[in-house]
Amino acid sequence: MTKEIEEKILSLKGKFPKVKTAILPAFHILYQESGYLDPEGMEKISELLEIPLMEVYEVASFYTYFPSEKTGKYIIRVCDNLSCLLSGAEKLIGYLEEKLKIKVGQMTPDGLFTLSTVECLGSCGTAPVMMVNEDYYENLTREKIDQILEKLSKK
Ligand code: FES
Repeated sequence: MTKEIEEKILSLKGKFPKVKTAILPAFHILYQESGYLDPEGMEKISELLEIPLMEVYEVASFYTYFPSEKTGKYIIRVCDNLSCLLSGAEKLIGYLEEKLKIKVGQMTPDGLFTLSTVECLGSCGTAPVMMVNEDYYENLTREKIDQILEKLSKK
């Protein structure tokens, strides 16, 4: 963890009435820095915020948004909840696995994509839905997936 990141996390200390509230913003900082919540980073958060490490781990295990392992540059999160399943999400997940030549939970060998499934993304009316990093993609079809992957592969 760089000095700059440490300072950003330290600066969270005075921003909240209860320091525990700073854990999530600290996770965001760590996640942006390293792409996942690595054990050393969580230890540092515990140390900097003076919060027991166990409590930091408890919060990390609750918020599945933050990966605990190294991920690809782009994390694809496909909703596999009811509305999306009824709209064909399962087939699209299979299509993504086929296209990327990986299974859900894996990263492509070039480190570009990680494929995962998630619970409802809160956009059931435009199912099927997926997120790639912070961006939403709705009313998904195979054609849209082709376009999205092609665009991201060129970035
Ligand atoms: S069920 Fe997929 S967004 Fe709600």
